[in-house]
Amino acid sequence: MAEIRRPDDMVRITTPELADAFIEEQVNIAREQIGDKKVLLALSGGVDSSVVAALLIKAVGKQLVCVHVNHGLLRKGEPEQVIEVFGKQLDANLIYVDAVDRFLDKLEGVDDPEEKRHIIGEEFIDVFADEARKLEGVDFLAQGTIWPDILESEDGIKAHHNAGGLPEDIAERFELVEPVRILFKDEVRVVGKQLGLPDNMVYRQPFPGPGLGVRCPGAITRDRLEAVRESDAILREEFEKAGLAGKVWQYFTVVPDFKSTGITDGKRTFDWPCIIRAINTTDVMQVSVEHLEPELIDRLAMRITTEVEGINRVLYDFTPKPPATVEYE
Ligand code: XMP
Repeated sequence: MAEIRRPDDMVRITTPELADAFIEEQVNIAREQIGDKKVLLALSGGVDSSVVAALLIKAVGKQLVCVHVNHGLLRKGEPEQVIEVFGKQLDANLIYVDAVDRFLDKLEGVDDPEEKRHIIGEEFIDVFADEARKLEGVDFLAQGTIWPDILESEDGIKAHHNAGGLPEDIAERFELVEPVRILFKDEVRVVGKQLGLPDNMVYRQPFPGPGLGVRCPGAITRDRLEAVRESDAILREEFEKAGLAGKVWQYFTVVPDFKSTGITDGKRTFDWPCIIRAINTTDVMQVSVEHLEPELIDRLAMRITTEVEGINRVLYDFTPKPPATVEYE
């Protein structure tokens, strides 16, 4: 595929009209490139892969094969939303892979953070490659690469894998299709909005590849992971209600692997704490803490301790980056 460069004088895509022009151009390019062949996409439900999916559905319809891998570390409601938006509303060719047991079994007892990340990454590639091997006549692989990914890989900050780090027998079968390669993140969001994707998909906060796995520090257990997922859902709901959802850069919960004594209905409990983290940043290198209203903190403490199984204490993380990182692992 010809190298695509972002022209130095390219107009920043900030309006629906500019997004429409971009979509029309990329639809034509994709049709020309793909012809009557099939194209495969790993659809996580994040902003970039969702926008690529919507764009390619517009361009080549059912010739796009989306694979959504549920690794068990997604937020509450995410796999369901992918199925609803892409499988139903956009009538895409969607393969849903329930790999929850496969991932959680592999992660059982693994408490080293780097090993956890490694297993999640490797396993993801394995699951996706298995699906790719099952498909016949797919010549293209679509990716949600965006312009900062290219810049970072040129700077040597982050390895930008061609074909997503897939094993060679799979990678060499495909030609890459990267329709949002020349866009910055804010432009991808304008294009996604114009393609009709729901706001909570287009404007969603950053979410790490290893998902809730890095918010369940130490060896992941299904019950503690569920406590992370449920508390995260409550936090997101309360931030939405308080009008903070689009304003705070990132907010989530962490359930560490230790217990403390509490009391409920006159009886002793021995449960995990739930840590709330809410931060703001422009460059992710330096991060400041969002100071929440006391009423919101009170409501979160009350809801999380009463609604989430296994939690008897709510803590707030007041640490900027540096010295702390955003995620716990
Ligand atoms: P840290 O913890 O390094 O996080 O201060 C900075 C930002 O990066 C996100 N993050 C990731 N994003 N894959 C990603 O795509 C990852 O493995 C990953 N780890 C951290 C984190 O959520 C924060 O926004």
